[in-house]
Amino acid sequence: MTRHPTWLDIGALADIPRRGARQVATPDGPIAVFRTHDDAVFAIEDRCPHKGGPLSQGIVHGASVTCPLHNWVIDLQTGAAQGADEGCARTLPVRVSDDRVLLGLHMAAEQAA
Ligand code: FES
Repeated sequence: MTRHPTWLDIGALADIPRRGARQVATPDGPIAVFRTHDDAVFAIEDRCPHKGGPLSQGIVHGASVTCPLHNWVIDLQTGAAQGADEGCARTLPVRVSDDRVLLGLHMAAEQAA
């Protein structure tokens, strides 16, 4: 069965600071939505693959974020830890339309009912 995302409007692009993030509560848990210096937008679960640190409070550099707890560097595109560290945070589809940020959620059937 193919599931299409439900697009949730989470606010204006301007509401997310450049090189910053916003945390969005979803039925799947908190999601961190990041905006890079060049206005690219990425969404990954707000939970570091190391010990669950809040990635939305990390430092954004390029298309990566450094976890505030123990400085793992996470690739925003893939959610994967960089360098010698191993682990991967789940990514979600996100897009910008008319300056609104839309987060793609895969609602479970029972939640949509
Ligand atoms: S919890 Fe993120 S680096 Fe340890």
